[in-house]
Amino acid sequence: MHHISTILGGLSVLSGATLAYASTPVESSNFNVTAALEDLGIDVSTIPALNSFTGAQARSTDKACAAACSSLSFIFGSKVAAQNTAGYSNFTDSFWSVQQEEVQPHCIFRPTKNTDVSAAVLLSRFTGCQFAARSGGHAAFTGASSSPGGISIWFKDMNAVTLNDDKSVASIGPGNNWLSVYSALEPYGLATIGGRAASIGVGGFVLGGGISYHSNLYGWACDNVESFEVVTASGLIITVSETSYSDLYWALRGGGNNFGLVTKYNLYTIPAPTMYGGSRTFLEPYFSQAINAFINVANNASVDPHAQQYIAFLNNNGTNLASAELTYTQDVADPQIFKQYRSIPAIADVSSSKTLVEYVEYLETSNPFHLREVYWPVAVKLDEKFSNWVVKTFYSMIPQVENVAGAEPVIIFQAITEPMLKKMSDFGGNALGLDASNGAVELMHIACWWTNESDDETIYAFVNSFWETVLAEAKSQGIFNEFVYMNYASLYQDPISGYGAANKAQLKKIAKKYDPQTVYQTLQPGYFKLEGAPASF
Ligand SMILES: Cc1cc2nc3c(=O)[nH]c(=O)nc-3n(C[C@H](O)[C@H](O)[C@H](O)COP(=O)(O)OP(=O)(O)OC[C@H]3O[C@@H](n4cnc5c(N)ncnc54)[C@H](O)[C@@H]3O)c2cc1C
Ligand SMILES: *[C@@H]1O[C@H](CO)[C@@H](O)[C@H](O)[C@H]1NC(C)=O
Ligand SMILES: *[C@@H]1O[C@H](CO)[C@@H](O)[C@H](O)[C@H]1NC(C)=O
Ligand SMILES: *[C@@H]1O[C@H](CO)[C@@H](O)[C@H](O)[C@H]1NC(C)=O
Ligand SMILES: *[C@@H]1O[C@H](CO)[C@@H](O)[C@H](O)[C@H]1NC(C)=O
Ligand SMILES: *[C@@H]1O[C@H](CO)[C@@H](O)[C@H](O)[C@H]1NC(C)=O
Repeated sequence: MHHISTILGGLSVLSGATLAYASTPVESSNFNVTAALEDLGIDVSTIPALNSFTGAQARSTDKACAAACSSLSFIFGSKVAAQNTAGYSNFTDSFWSVQQEEVQPHCIFRPTKNTDVSAAVLLSRFTGCQFAARSGGHAAFTGASSSPGGISIWFKDMNAVTLNDDKSVASIGPGNNWLSVYSALEPYGLATIGGRAASIGVGGFVLGGGISYHSNLYGWACDNVESFEVVTASGLIITVSETSYSDLYWALRGGGNNFGLVTKYNLYTIPAPTMYGGSRTFLEPYFSQAINAFINVANNASVDPHAQQYIAFLNNNGTNLASAELTYTQDVADPQIFKQYRSIPAIADVSSSKTLVEYVEYLETSNPFHLREVYWPVAVKLDEKFSNWVVKTFYSMIPQVENVAGAEPVIIFQAITEPMLKKMSDFGGNALGLDASNGAVELMHIACWWTNESDDETIYAFVNSFWETVLAEAKSQGIFNEFVYMNYASLYQDPISGYGAANKAQLKKIAKKYDPQTVYQTLQPGYFKLEGAPASF
C-alpha cells in the first residue's frame, strides 16, 4: 500500500505552509462560503442539488444532507458511498465498537487529498449538514467518528507514509493505523511514538495524547509532532508547528477534533530496535506483590526509561487474575527493573523478543472488534495503598454486572511517569494540563465489553457508581487528579474541563480565533467538545 521508496525522492511536503488559496487563517466576519468553494473550483450554481438550495432546506437535516451528499457525489463520484452499497457497509461494519457500527450516516466520503477535505467542510457549511471524521475508528461511543444522518468522512485512502530527506520526520496520512505506520518505517530501522495495538488510528490517538511503549524515553505522541497539516473551518490548508500558528499547535496537542481536520501528521522518528515483552499473569494471593512491583517500576521510570508497563485486573470464568503487560524497548529478557515482577510466581508468561510490528499485532488479539464497549478513566496520585484498595473495591462491585450477557469488566492501571510529564513541556507545552511538579500520576481505567444494547444503561451506571465510590475516597485522601484522558474517556466525561479552567479558557479562545462560527463544534458535534460531556445521566 505504501510506496515509501518511490515517494522518498521528491519530498518537500514538510516545509512551509501550503495554502490552498491566499487568505488569512483567522476567519473574517464576512467570510463567504460560496466564494471559498469557488476558490476550490466548485461553482455551486453548476451543481444540481445546490443551485436552488434554500435556507428552509438547510433547516431540515434530511434535505440538507441529501443536498450535501448528492453534491459530493456530483463532484467526487466514486469517493462517495450512499446507503445500501458495499462501500457504505465497509465503513459501518469496520468500527471497533458496535455502538459506532450502529450509526447510519447519510453518506460516506473518502477523500484522497487535503482539498477534498476542504470541500467537504465547506459543503457542510453551505448546506448545514453535519459531519464526523474517522481515522482508525477506535473511539467507542455513538457518533464519536461517524455522523448519524450526516456525512462521515473516512480518511482510509489518505494513507501515505513518507520520510523527509534526513529521515528525522515521518509524514503520515490520517488513513493510517499504527500497524501500517510501523510497517512502512521498519525497513528503515525507524518508528514513531504511536499506539500499542495494530488497529488504533493515527488520527484520534495523537490529538488526544498518545501513550506508547517508548513514552518514558520520548514522551507522549502529541509531544513528538513536528507539525500538523490542518484544514481549517474556512477550508484553508495550513501547516501548524511550534513556530507557525503556535497557539493552534498547542491546542491540537490534547484538544481533539475541535480545531480542524488534520490531513497530515508530521511526527519525529525514533530508532526501532527489537523489543522484549508480553503479559505475565498472577493469581489473587500475589496481587499486592504485583501492585508493589507496578509502583516501583513506575517510580523507576527515570532510572530505566526502556521499561513500559500496565497491569489489568479481571475475573476469568470465576478466577480473579492480574495480567501485567511488561515491555522493554530493547531485546533484553530480564532487565533489573522488572526483576521484582519476574520473582512473583506466574500462571502464564508469554514474553518474547518482538519487533514493534510483531508487538502491536500480538496486542491486537486481546482487543476484539464488534462488541459493545466502554472505556472510562480517572486519575489519582500514584499510590500503592490506594491501588490495593481500588482493586478490592473493584472485585467487591463486579458481581453487580455478573448477569449481564457477555460483560467482562477489567480495571487497568498505568502510570503517567515523571519522564513523560517532563516531556509535556517540550515545544511550548501541550493542552493536557499535567505537570511534573507533583510526581507521577496513576491513570486507572475500566474497560468493559458486553453483548446486548438493552444492558447499556446497566453497564454505564455500574462504571459510574464504581468511580463515584473510588473518587470520593481519592478526594478524602487528597490524591484526586482532575485529569481525564480523552483517548480513554467515556461519553459521560468532560476531558477538556479536566485540563483545568485556564487551559479550557485558552482552548476556547483559540477555537474562536480560527473558527469563529464554531464549525468544528456545532457542525461536527460528535466526540469531546469544548463545552461539556457528550452525554449525562
Ligand atoms: C484496543 C485499544 C487499544 C488502545 N491502546 C492505546 C494506547 O496504547 N495508547 C493510548 O494512548 N491510547 C490507546 N487507545 C485509545 C486510543 O488512543 C483512542 O481510542 C483513539 O481515539 C483512537 O484513535 P482513532 O483514530 O482510532 O479513533 P477515531 O474513532 O477514528 O477518532 C477519534 C476521534 O478523533 C477524531 N479524529 C480522527 N482523525 C482525525 C483527524 N485526522 N483530524 C481531526 N480529528 C480526527 C475523530 O473525529 C474522533 O472524534 C486504545 C484504544 C483501544 C480501543
Ligand atoms: C459570496 O460569493 C459569491 C460568489 O463569489 C457571490 O456571488 C455572492 O454575492 C457573495 N455573497 C456575499 C454576501 O458577498
Ligand atoms: C469493501 O471491502 C472489501 C474488503 O476490504 C474490498 O475488497 C471491497 O473492494 C470494498 N468494496 C468497496 C465498494 O469499497
Ligand atoms: C526501583 O526498583 C527497585 C526494585 O527493582 C526497588 O528496590 C526500588 O525501591 C525502586 N525505586 C523506586 C524509587 O521505587
Ligand atoms: C469455566 O469453569 C467451569 C468450572 O469452574 C468449567 O466447567 C468451564 O469449562 C469453564 N469455562 C471456560 C470457558 O473455561
Ligand atoms: C440479550 O438479552 C436477552 C435477555 O437477557 C437474552 O435472552 C439474549 O440471549 C441476549 N442476547 C444475546 C445476543 O446475548
